[in-house]
Amino acid sequence: MDFKNGNIGFFDSGIGGISILGKTMKLLENEVFIYFGDSRNSPYGSKSESELINLSINICNFLIFENNCKAIVVACNTASSAAIRFLRERYEPKIPIIGVEPAIKPAVEFVNSNNKKGYILLLATPFTVNGDKLRCLINKYSKNTIECFALDYLAYMIEHNESEQSIYDYLYERLHKYINNVSCIVLGCTHYYFVKNIIKDIFGEGVRIFDGSLGTAMELRRRLIENNLINKTIDNLNTRVQIYNSLDNEKVLRCHKILSGVI
Ligand code: DGL
Repeated sequence: MDFKNGNIGFFDSGIGGISILGKTMKLLENEVFIYFGDSRNSPYGSKSESELINLSINICNFLIFENNCKAIVVACNTASSAAIRFLRERYEPKIPIIGVEPAIKPAVEFVNSNNKKGYILLLATPFTVNGDKLRCLINKYSKNTIECFALDYLAYMIEHNESEQSIYDYLYERLHKYINNVSCIVLGCTHYYFVKNIIKDIFGEGVRIFDGSLGTAMELRRRLIENNLINKTIDNLNTRVQIYNSLDNEKVLRCHKILSGVI
C-alpha cells in the first residue's frame, strides 16, 4: 500500500466531523479526504467504551485498508475519548492518528487574559463528560472553574435535522440556569458546531464560544509535516472529498455531501 500518496480519513458518528473537515480542507489544499459518517450507530455518546473501540477499529480498517488513508482524524470527541489510545497502539507510527479534544486551553487563556468572571461551561456527550480523558484535561487547568454539562440528546437532534426551535427549547430548558454566570462556552462535541448560533442566541453575543475544529486541523497539518506525508500537488481538484455513510439512506448521504461542499 502506498501510504505516502494516500488520502486522509475522517470519521464521526455522523455529520459532526464535517465541521473539522471544512477547516482542514482550507488548510491542506493538496490532500484528498475520505469522510465516514457512522449514522447507523449514532449517537455515540450513550455507547459503552468497548462498543466505541470496536466501531472505531472497524472504521479505521475501512479507511486505511480499503481507502488507502495515510492519516486518520477521529473527528468525534466521544470516539477520541474512548478509543484514541487503542487506535494509536494499533496503527501508529505508520499511520498518524489525530484526535479531537475540547478547546479548554484557549478558553482558559481567554478567561485569564481578559480577567473574565464566571464559569467556563463545557458541553459534551454523556460519554465524554464522564470520561477520564476530560478529567485529566480539566485537572491541568484546575485553577479555573470549569462546569461540565452532559447533553444526552443534542447530537441526536442535530443528526436528525430537528427544527431550530426544538433545539433552542431543549437547550434553554437545560442551560438557562447558566445564563449570566458564564464567561465562555467550550463545545466538546463536533456536532454542536452546527448549532453555535442557537447557543449564541441563548447566552448572548458577549459569551465567546470555543470549538476544537481549527486546532485539530492544525494538529493534523503538523503531524503530516513531521511524518513527511504532506502532498505538494493534487491530480484532480474535483474529487477532493469522498463521503461514505454506514446508513443506506440517500437523504443522510445527501446531507453529508451538502455540508462538506461536495454538492
Ligand atoms: N460528534 C460526536 C462527538 O464529538 C458524537 C456525537 C454522538 O454521536 O453522540 O462527541
